[in-house]
This record gives sequence, structure tokens and C-alpha cells, in this order.
Amino acid sequence: MDKKQATILVTGGAGYIGSHAVLALQKAGYQVIILDNLVYGHREFAEDILKVELIVGDTCDRELLDKLFSTRNITAVMHFAAYAYVGESVTAPDKYYHNNVVGTLTLLEAMLKAGVNQFVFSSTCAVYGVPQTFPIPEDHPTAPINPYGQSKLMVEQMLADMDRAYDFRSVRFRYFNAAGADPQGRLGEDHNPETHLIPLILFTALGKREAISIFGTDYPTPDGTCIRDYIHVNDLASAHVLGLDYLLKGGKTEVFNLGNGTGFSVKEVIEAAKKVTGKDFTVLECDRRPGDPPQLVGTSEKIRKVLGWNPQYTKIEEIIAHAWQWHQQRHGDR
Ligand code: UFG
Repeated sequence: MDKKQATILVTGGAGYIGSHAVLALQKAGYQVIILDNLVYGHREFAEDILKVELIVGDTCDRELLDKLFSTRNITAVMHFAAYAYVGESVTAPDKYYHNNVVGTLTLLEAMLKAGVNQFVFSSTCAVYGVPQTFPIPEDHPTAPINPYGQSKLMVEQMLADMDRAYDFRSVRFRYFNAAGADPQGRLGEDHNPETHLIPLILFTALGKREAISIFGTDYPTPDGTCIRDYIHVNDLASAHVLGLDYLLKGGKTEVFNLGNGTGFSVKEVIEAAKKVTGKDFTVLECDRRPGDPPQLVGTSEKIRKVLGWNPQYTKIEEIIAHAWQWHQQRHGDR
């Protein structure tokens, strides 16, 4: 199919990862419509920066979805819209099951009714829970330790069942820690509230916070702090385009990890950020944050082999440098 004739509905396309994926889709020649309820998304990302049609609405709104699918010639759906605060999912699980599971099921039902049967899904390494082997392969047992991970795994199960029951094909991506920003500075991470390590370090470097807290220094890791696999948001975005190309060419349902295969401890990330920003700042050693596995590092051999994915920005300094450029321009004078 000619990409220019393929219209992709991107839910959550005004958010952090979704907006970078829209940019990559546009570059690849696809037409895009964004559906975003703007609870966490940014209108200006869609309208001013990406200049894409934005439909403000919710994936739980079946009437809106039916209207959308019956009036627009949508070829496939890329589904980013979700709540993604792990801590909040523990204290408000109903909110997560409703939005992430009920919302996705409503979307899938509308797709089935409309005969749209290709789906790219944002899943997470949180489906693995506390991993037993490193680096984590896709066939590692799934055992989420929080409702956020559970909600994503439930959708994964729905997708596998729908593939068996109907000709409904999907690619599920299990992200490790998304980080960085568009290297050209057009888009980046802007969560409210912000809970992620790299943006919080950079706010501290900008003088917007007094200190960065390390959550736990007694983990069974070489320096005692948690290890994560940070992956550049542009490399996530390029994987989504490859996943979509693959489905449109008739590819079968698959699940892929998306990580770099290299772990960095919280202390290593802080040191790298000090180097990149040239700033020194206060670092506090605090108690563990509940629900944090000591180490999450994935192997992405499968997607490299099957889809030919080749991440471009694998150095932690480069990932931080792009985030730093973004945060300086977005928050520097606030
Ligand atoms: N951390 C700190 N201080 C902070 C913030 C974070 O030490 O102020 C630590 C965390 O304890 C963790 C690491 O930095 O060890 C990374 O934390 P993030 O909050 O940046 O990311 P998470 O690993 O918790 O979360 C990410 C994704 C989730 C996904 C999860 C899988 O954001 O969507 O990985 O566990 F579910």
C-alpha cells in the first residue's frame, strides 16, 4: 500500500512518546490523525508543532470512535493513550484498569466493527515484574508487580486472543525506560507531575529543584542503586514505524522488547548528567521507592533481527544531551 494513502490513527499522539512517533510517521510518508483526551497530552504538540488533525476525545467514547472509523478511511491504529504512573496505579488501580483496559477494549471493539485490523501497541517492561534473568528476553515469564503493568499485560492478552479469533494482527512493544527528546528540539518530555529520573535531574541542574533524591542505595547492584535500560524516544518512534510497515505488509502478530541492552545505575545517570550539563547539584540518598525492581535491562535481539531495527542514540550522554536541550528551552525561564 502507498503510505501516502494510509491514514494512521494515533491515540495519545499529543503525549511524549506518541508525539515523537507521529513525527516519525510523517517523515515516513504516512497520513496521521491524533486522538488525545489532553489529560496529559499537549495541544500545541499536535496543532502547532506536528500540524496534525487533533481530535480531542477519549478511547472510552465508543460513539466518537464509531463516528471516526465510519467517516475516515483509517488503515491502522497506533495506541499510546494510557495512564503510566506506576505509583499512582497502586493507589488508584480502578483509574488504571478503566483507562488502560476498558479504554483499549472499547477501541478494539470499534476497530473490529469497522474492519480495521492492524494495531501497534505500547506495552512495557513492567509486564516482567521482578525479572529472573538478564538481559530479559520476550519469552521471560510475565508477572507484573503493579496495576499499571497488569493493565498493559491484560491488553496484551486481549490482543493475542483477538489474533486467534479474528484476522486481527498486532505488534506489541515492551518499552524499557523511554528518555531523551527530538534531537532538533521540537518535541520532548513534559509530564505533570514529573516523576521520571532524567527530567527530575535536569530540573535540578536548571535550579528548579533543590536536589535530586536517589531512591535506595542498598539494592543488590554494584553501586547499590537501581539499574535501568534507557532508550531514546526517537529510537522508540522508529521502531513503531517499522512495526507498522511490517503489519501493513501482512506481518503476523508479534511482541518485541525495545531497549538498548545496557543498564545504567541511578548514580551513573546522575554523573552522566553532571557531565553533560556542566552543573553540579545536590544529591540526596533516600529510602527505596516502593515497587521498584533492582534491575531492568532487556535484550532487543528479536526486533533487530525481525524488523531490522537499529537504534541510533545508544549513549546515555547523548540521550541526556537531547533531553537537556529540550528542558532548557521549555523550562529554562519559567
Ligand atoms: N529514581 C530516583 N529518583 C527520582 C526518580 C527516580 O532515584 O527522583 C529512580 C527510580 O527509583 C528508578 C530509576 O530512577 O530506580 C528510574 O525511575 P523512573 O521513574 O525514571 O522510571 P521507572 O523505571 O520507574 O519507570 C519506567 C517507566 C514506566 C514503566 C517502568 C517499568 O516510566 O512506564 O519503567 O518498571 F512501567
